[in-house]
Amino acid sequence: NTSPRICPSLLDCDFSFLKSEIDDAERCGAEIVHWDVMDGFFVPNFSYGPMVIRSLRPQSQLVFEAHLMMKEPGKYLDGFLEAGCDVITIHLEAVPDPTELLRAIRDGGALAGLAVNPPTPIEQLEPWLDQIDLALVMSVMPGFGGQSFDQGALERMRWVRERSRPELIIEVDGGVNRTTISDAVRAGARHMVVGSAFYRAQDRAAEFQQLTQLVNE
Ligand code: DX5
Ligand code: ZN
Repeated sequence: NTSPRICPSLLDCDFSFLKSEIDDAERCGAEIVHWDVMDGFFVPNFSYGPMVIRSLRPQSQLVFEAHLMMKEPGKYLDGFLEAGCDVITIHLEAVPDPTELLRAIRDGGALAGLAVNPPTPIEQLEPWLDQIDLALVMSVMPGFGGQSFDQGALERMRWVRERSRPELIIEVDGGVNRTTISDAVRAGARHMVVGSAFYRAQDRAAEFQQLTQLVNE
């Protein structure tokens, strides 16, 4: 199924109700939740790690995707695999030669994702395109929710789309909302990570529905 997906980012949810916040994404129609893992080194913020994800795994049927904003993702990879992550995305800036880690992710039974920050030349993805299942084109500098969408991401996604096989999932992350989502889909994004626009909405179900309508137009 190649239709676009809205992936709520738990970074913006209420951590004191983590299970019900995940269930709420499902109630609103999500099939995937996005876990933003921050180590305090790769990004100037700290969130949660594999133990938290593992504790929630048996509590939800949703697809779990882990976005590892970590300087040394390899050190903790087994933990994320054991935690039951379905998709694991590492950053090219942290791992300049990701061959081994990408293979370990796939061997561990997950889909392998590779992320690039806005300042990283998009051409640097090229050597790895046939080793990944997902390319994450960041549309903000990672670290915090609620930032505004970098329009440069659109051209970068088009670049990836033109050079990759049709099954490769392009994901966009950062500042995705009602205003920016349509352009992202047109540029080739299939996974739209939505943090603050979803979790801080007055009416989350209505917001999810609106976003879904926009991606299907
Ligand atoms: C950025 C994270 C994102 C982000 C999304 O550091 O990777 O997933 O929290 O939040 P919004 O949608 O608010 O930009
Ligand atoms: Zn993310």
